[in-house]
Amino acid sequence: MKTLIEPFKIKSVEHIPMTTESDREKYLKDADYNTFSLRSDYVTLDYLTDSGTTAMSSRQWAQVMDGDESYAGSKSYYKFEKILQEITGFKYIIPTHQGRAAERILFGVIGDKTKVVPNNTHFDTTRGNLEFLGVEAVDLPTAIGINPEIEADFKGNIDIDALKNLIEKVGADRIPIVMITVTNNSGGGQPVSMENIRETKKLVSQYGIPLFLDCCRFAENCYFIKQREAGYQDKTIKEIAQEMFSYADGCTMSAKKDGLSNTGGFIGLNNDDWAEKAKVILIVTEGFVTYGGLARRDLEALAVGFEEVLDENYLRYRVGQVKMLGDLITGEGVPILVPTGGHAVYLDAKRFAPHIEPKYFPGQAISCAIYIKGGIRSVEIGSVMFGKTDENGNHIAPNMELVRLAIPRRVYTKSHIEYTAEAIIEVFKEKDKLRKMKITYEAPFLRHFTAKFDYI
Ligand code: F0G
Repeated sequence: MKTLIEPFKIKSVEHIPMTTESDREKYLKDADYNTFSLRSDYVTLDYLTDSGTTAMSSRQWAQVMDGDESYAGSKSYYKFEKILQEITGFKYIIPTHQGRAAERILFGVIGDKTKVVPNNTHFDTTRGNLEFLGVEAVDLPTAIGINPEIEADFKGNIDIDALKNLIEKVGADRIPIVMITVTNNSGGGQPVSMENIRETKKLVSQYGIPLFLDCCRFAENCYFIKQREAGYQDKTIKEIAQEMFSYADGCTMSAKKDGLSNTGGFIGLNNDDWAEKAKVILIVTEGFVTYGGLARRDLEALAVGFEEVLDENYLRYRVGQVKMLGDLITGEGVPILVPTGGHAVYLDAKRFAPHIEPKYFPGQAISCAIYIKGGIRSVEIGSVMFGKTDENGNHIAPNMELVRLAIPRRVYTKSHIEYTAEAIIEVFKEKDKLRKMKITYEAPFLRHFTAKFDYI
């Protein structure tokens, strides 16, 4: 059968708000044209993030009731630890309340002002946590990885030649770890090949540098490896994941993605000394080592989530749903980053609204217009999120100007996707009406979360 169906049926429904275009114009103005500032009860379909927005399965909810809320030694922790050790092979599984806590703790152990951490592309909190400590965060995507118009299988790869040059230039002693983000969220949710991970490991081993994965979307990445990389067609997703983690010395994870749950994260480590130090910071700032800031019932839900995410039927539907949205809108000429990745469709704002220069935030203008058209929430990933201003007041734009529609896992149906496509296509047909925008307020770190905007 060719028709892609949701591999689940619906047991409980959550009503979604239906609003009018004139309501939404008011709501957006009140939110200073920042989709992060919109109340969710003014949003009909929410693609702000795929993080923590998953619908849990009936099995997960059943396990929630079985949570052992003991402060220390909870049996729920041991279930969580077991499945993660099975998948990752890491000796230490240190739970945290979400991904950025894992990053903060790991970097607190290894980072200081003299250090440099390369990555295929740092996610914004990863970069933020490093820069907060004075560590230099360097992105090393490949040339095709930053070209939204080129179709290729593994656009998430790290540029290994550039990594070698960087290590030679700054010296291995200043690079405490090299990171690879799977899939590469900021680079379009694009997968990283097994070969790229293996070769990176080979290179960094020569310099004695550990390799870490930022593995929020590891299962989606493994599904792409199975589909696209020679030699993996007959392997299970779990086997592919095990091989992928075997090349790494540790990981940080926001389990709010491929943990198929609403909260959680962890650090995976083999290094005894780093693990001891991380546990101390964990206890001071998150919680005891067998819960790390989570309710123990969350660990139960995660333990089941990590099993369910390895199911190939689920991953086929998941990646297929993202592709469906991409195909529906590209069929009408809407420019997107190609190919579609694992968790989101990224509109290419430079080609969508070529009359708006990056310094006037074309992605923000598109994101606002899509909200007004259909009550659909997306997020700008471009000059708002990563743009900088130099000392002469000139705008320094990032490589790409994108608008991300991240699809929550197991939440929306095919008709929700069709409605979303219709709204985007309508905005695209009226694209000449999109207006330049300016920032009227910004915070010094991670400005996109709280910035205020207006039209020029
Ligand atoms: N790393 C990557 C690749 C991520 O995508 C995220 C979160 C984090 C780390 C941080 O994890 O949110 O649990 O603290 N990404 C979300 C997103 C927020 O919308 O892409 P967190």
